[in-house]
Amino acid sequence: MALFGKKEETKLPENLPVHVGFIMDGNGRWAKKRGLPRSLGHVEGGKNFKRIMQYCKDIGIKYASFYVFSTENWKRPQAEIDGILAIMREYLDEVQLHLGDGVRAIFLGDKSAYPEDIRKRMEKLEADTAHHSQLTVLLACNYGGRDEIAHAAREIAALVKNGELDPDSITEQTIADHLYTAGIPDVDLVIRPSGELRLSNYLIWQCAYAEYYFTDVLWPDFGTDELDKALIDYAGRGRRFGGV
Ligand code: IPE
Ligand code: IPE
Ligand code: MG
Repeated sequence: MALFGKKEETKLPENLPVHVGFIMDGNGRWAKKRGLPRSLGHVEGGKNFKRIMQYCKDIGIKYASFYVFSTENWKRPQAEIDGILAIMREYLDEVQLHLGDGVRAIFLGDKSAYPEDIRKRMEKLEADTAHHSQLTVLLACNYGGRDEIAHAAREIAALVKNGELDPDSITEQTIADHLYTAGIPDVDLVIRPSGELRLSNYLIWQCAYAEYYFTDVLWPDFGTDELDKALIDYAGRGRRFGGV
């Protein structure tokens, strides 16, 4: 079956990653290169998010996570933050319509930092899509890996305090169960465009054994052909998880 006319050519490998994490970086530089305001880079980045999400669904990826906004990104100028919030409002209203059936959306991060209307839209999207299972899209908004682990520690400490949990029984699984990603498989492949070779606090627990793919292409230009390249590269790697 044809996915998109011109993409019939690419033969994707059989061993696709179950969970792909996208660090959507480089929007600002994409705009700067064109003499445009950074906010327009975020608009283009948003369009590419939709393209890549749709493609993940078409090729059968089960979990796709996207780094939308970090706990550190609040340091940016208020005008830029407001621009990103405006894009979020727009997408929260239309994303479900755009994707159709089969896609479940889950937010990773502390929603309480967002204005009430956005928080409500996030909660509604999660509730409306909770029964879908073809593709799960994880949206990291006000997300930081260290913040997530601290949040899990607070929840676990409260259980110990109430006498519901014995500290000696705490395992790696206990911690995983208290992360925002509880029940979601670990990341298999992290993709970071834009030339930066770092994780920037993205899913630091869940990426412990992830494979990494870096490219200089900026996020708004990271199209489906670029994703194909990353998937082919990933398929050729030997993952050992500490074994032989
Ligand atoms: C990523 O693009 C989007 C967010 C962090 C919200 P950037 O805005 O970081 O783009 P660059 O890195 O400045 O090019
Ligand atoms: C990471 O990008 C966060 C997102 C893509 C949302 P940044 O642009 O914030 O990361 P640094 O500052 O280059 O590490
Ligand atoms: Mg950046």
